[in-house]
Amino acid sequence: MKLYKRRIGHVEHVRVLILHSEIAPDAPPDDQDTLLQAAVIERALKQLGHETSCSNFDPDSAAMEGMLVRECPDLVFNLVETVWGSGVHASLAPAMLTRFGVPFTGCSASAIAACGDKIFAKRAMAGAGLPTPDWSEAPAWSGIADGRWIIKSVSEDASLGLDDGAVVHGCEAVAERAQACAARYGGRWFAERYIEGREFNVALIEKFGAPFVLPIGEMLFERWDDARPRIIGYAAKWDETAPEYHDTTRVFDWQEREPRLHRMLEFISRECWSFFGLSGYARVDFRVDAEGRPFILEVNPNPCLEPSAGFAAACAQAGMDFASLISEIVKSAIQG
Ligand SMILES: Nc1ncnc2c1ncn2[C@@H]1O[C@H](COP(=O)(O)OP(=O)(O)O)[C@@H](O)[C@H]1O
Ligand SMILES: [Mg+2]
Repeated sequence: MKLYKRRIGHVEHVRVLILHSEIAPDAPPDDQDTLLQAAVIERALKQLGHETSCSNFDPDSAAMEGMLVRECPDLVFNLVETVWGSGVHASLAPAMLTRFGVPFTGCSASAIAACGDKIFAKRAMAGAGLPTPDWSEAPAWSGIADGRWIIKSVSEDASLGLDDGAVVHGCEAVAERAQACAARYGGRWFAERYIEGREFNVALIEKFGAPFVLPIGEMLFERWDDARPRIIGYAAKWDETAPEYHDTTRVFDWQEREPRLHRMLEFISRECWSFFGLSGYARVDFRVDAEGRPFILEVNPNPCLEPSAGFAAACAQAGMDFASLISEIVKSAIQG
């Protein structure tokens, strides 16, 4: 059943409902970040002349339907990253909005579901010839014999569970770390081959129905102790008191010096966009090894839009301020 299908003739003034995950007051900083995003996005929407309201996503379909009837939004700004406290079910929000016929920003339910399961996404990318590091799963942990491996969550992001101990050698250490993380954080954990090398984030935004690649940021690891793995762990992303929070910095000046690498990252990111059927905005995270080979770490169908995070930084580098970023996202959702 479709709730309604309202025609929106122009995008100057629309009613936007900002829909976000339910966040407990004592939730960790990566969850609280959703509320920060909601607040700055609401401010930008108002500045653009739109009417706004904000709500938690309720996975109960009748409750959502009632709320949408009451609010009657022209558009939902979808910031739902977790449902029932986990990223596994994030696609429920766009799935429900699709069912009720309400336009929403960002990626479709199927793209969010596909990219939100990192093993599923890697299997699909590897099958399609898109470069992603080798991986291994419980219980067999096959192929782990040599090299270094990083233990990651299958469905959670924000560098959950990533610290210096996340990079390990050998089958026993892999299994032990994965078990410890599952016990502490819940969910499934897998091993991915650790790629020593450089790190890049490619932010893409939809313009006139096609992905536009924003300036590509490289993350630098400064003042780094060589004994530590070079990863953007949880503390580097969220703990302002940790040295790595300040010692991981984003630069854009490499692009002119390395046009070939730039072209390659841009090309692969566009391939990811069409392969997963992304829309609105998205970010692809890469590592590039010592031989210059790029590896896709993940495709983010709902990257953080907070003004200090990578996506907005890439926009600023392109001369696009935060309000213009939000305006583009709204436009593509309405016209898409
Ligand atoms: N295979 C890998 N090799 C090297 N570093 C990795 C690898 N996978 C993840 N990392 C590090 O961990 C960070 C977070 O991993 P990522 O896969 O992007 O998950 P998320 O950002 O969703 O938590 C990356 O930015 C990178 O620094
Ligand atoms: Mg990432």
